[in-house]
Amino acid sequence: MCGIVGIVGREAVTPRLVDGLQRLEYRGYDSAGVATLVDGAIARRRAEGKLTNLRNVLQARPLDGITGIAHTRWATHGAPTENNAHPHATAKVAVVHNGIIENFRELREELIAGGHVMETETDSEGIAHLGTAERDRGASPQQAAARALRRLDGAFALGILFAGHDGLLIGARRGCPLVVGYGDGEMYLGSDALAIGPLSNRVCYLMEGDWVELTAEGAVIHDASDAVVHRETKLAMITGGLIEKGNYRHFMLKEIYEQPAVIGDTLGTYYNQLSRRVVLPELPFDLASVPKITIVACGTAYYAGLVAKYWFERVGRVGAEVDVASEFRYREAALPEGGLAVFVSQSGETADTLAALRYCREQGQHILSVVNVPESSIARESDVVLPTHAGPEIGVASTKAFTCQLVVLACLAIATARARGAIDAAAEAELTHALVEVPAAATEVLKHDDRIEAIAGDIAKARDVLYLGRGALYPLALEGALKLKEISYIHAEGYAAGEMKHGPIALIDPAVPVVVLAPSDRLFGKTVSNMHEVIARGGRILLVTDVEGERHAGDGAAWKLVLPDMHEFVAPVLQAIPVQLLAYHAAVSRGTDVDQPRNLAKSVTVE
Ligand code: M6R
Repeated sequence: MCGIVGIVGREAVTPRLVDGLQRLEYRGYDSAGVATLVDGAIARRRAEGKLTNLRNVLQARPLDGITGIAHTRWATHGAPTENNAHPHATAKVAVVHNGIIENFRELREELIAGGHVMETETDSEGIAHLGTAERDRGASPQQAAARALRRLDGAFALGILFAGHDGLLIGARRGCPLVVGYGDGEMYLGSDALAIGPLSNRVCYLMEGDWVELTAEGAVIHDASDAVVHRETKLAMITGGLIEKGNYRHFMLKEIYEQPAVIGDTLGTYYNQLSRRVVLPELPFDLASVPKITIVACGTAYYAGLVAKYWFERVGRVGAEVDVASEFRYREAALPEGGLAVFVSQSGETADTLAALRYCREQGQHILSVVNVPESSIARESDVVLPTHAGPEIGVASTKAFTCQLVVLACLAIATARARGAIDAAAEAELTHALVEVPAAATEVLKHDDRIEAIAGDIAKARDVLYLGRGALYPLALEGALKLKEISYIHAEGYAAGEMKHGPIALIDPAVPVVVLAPSDRLFGKTVSNMHEVIARGGRILLVTDVEGERHAGDGAAWKLVLPDMHEFVAPVLQAIPVQLLAYHAAVSRGTDVDQPRNLAKSVTVE
């Protein structure tokens, strides 16, 4: 995680570096800092906490300079204090780092034994000292950087300044993304193209192991063996403007309300209005013959994959496995030659998902990704990308990206089913019609917001909350619990409803609300039986169902949320909205920082 940005400029860089950090705050907000070269000397300002604290510091003590680097941190090694904030610097070298240096302890001991004084608890500070040691031995900045890089184990994207070299900025990447931007007499460096969006849209994505010398004249790129190499430049499709909250109190609420529109936009890419069929871009493999589908993702994207497993198996009649990327990447899964591996990610930069993708490529899988950022690392390394068109998602809690992922995966499941002859034309038309109805149905579901807010006021008082669901609603129970935990800090767990009696039912008492996700699908009766087992033991139920379900659910629920009737196939998409709103209002009622909850970052670029 962490975001880095750098400029070799013609005019003052600090305000533009801070603007770049604002665009990168989704990568972490534990601390922020800037370093520039002022008359050849390294000068820096740092602050604990969100960017606004750094702005205050800079207002009190402005920072000149036309070459600089900046950093927003998600702490890995060392507490999120000002002292541990980047840039880390000696008198000779300043460094910003995204990633983890795995051999930092050995390096630290070696450097301390050599007389270097370490001021922080971080894994990153040693990089500045390694560069300094090389400079002390007479190396040029370029040589010092190249030699220091060879000493590092782990993952990094770096920006490095050298005292006395005002017009030079060195960048390097291994395992973490880094983008070079080309300007008019200026050059830029960023963790992603978004960071430098207002400055340049002509960008070059450095390749694994590359390092780059940036001067006002341009970029000289070296590969891992230090040879000068050419890398392609591209036009980035990034807008310069910052995304605004509009009249919404939080980005999360705005993004929840955007769902009818962005689901419609996403569907519009995969649904042909003339033929009334799902149409995918041409695939470099045949869906009819893939022996197995392996879905890998993290967090909310993983739950989208878990829903898709139900769809691929039931509708597509193809075996599908799903795993969290952090487990999958080390599991050495045996995969059949020619299988299809599907990676789901909003950011397209999640380190574990990217590593899992690379493993699957080595195992001869076809690589398909469902991503929201088309220029992301995962998208660029895929054989085929099925983008979601959710638009920028700013709130750390994923909402609209999730429902758009579901829509894309539903289209893929229909296309798979058709290719394999698993559904006839009538069944295909029924499923497709249900999907096309989702934007309008989502608008109807959003009309229940006031009622959800009222219920959330009660739920927010609980210390623990359980979520239950069956079939494709089981992943929604997991997602509901994750949403509540991450933004309201209430402990919550999701369970398959049928699992309750195998242990979790012992938790039931009136202080533990139980959210039961039960649309009137073919498993409704079974879910409702499980609900009554909870009621019989004094549990307080929030039943989230539909008009038909309410008629058959019986009495005893403490709260009911009755949504419009919905087709079973799309129920996971529509039931996502109340679980999102419930978490949102519970968080607001507890006064937490909804868009930037504690300890989290939007994009998880370290493993
Ligand atoms: O960018 P990705 O979709 O790959 O991110 C995966 C997870 O980090 C993400 O879904 C996370 O769990 C969210 N904060 C959940 O709301």
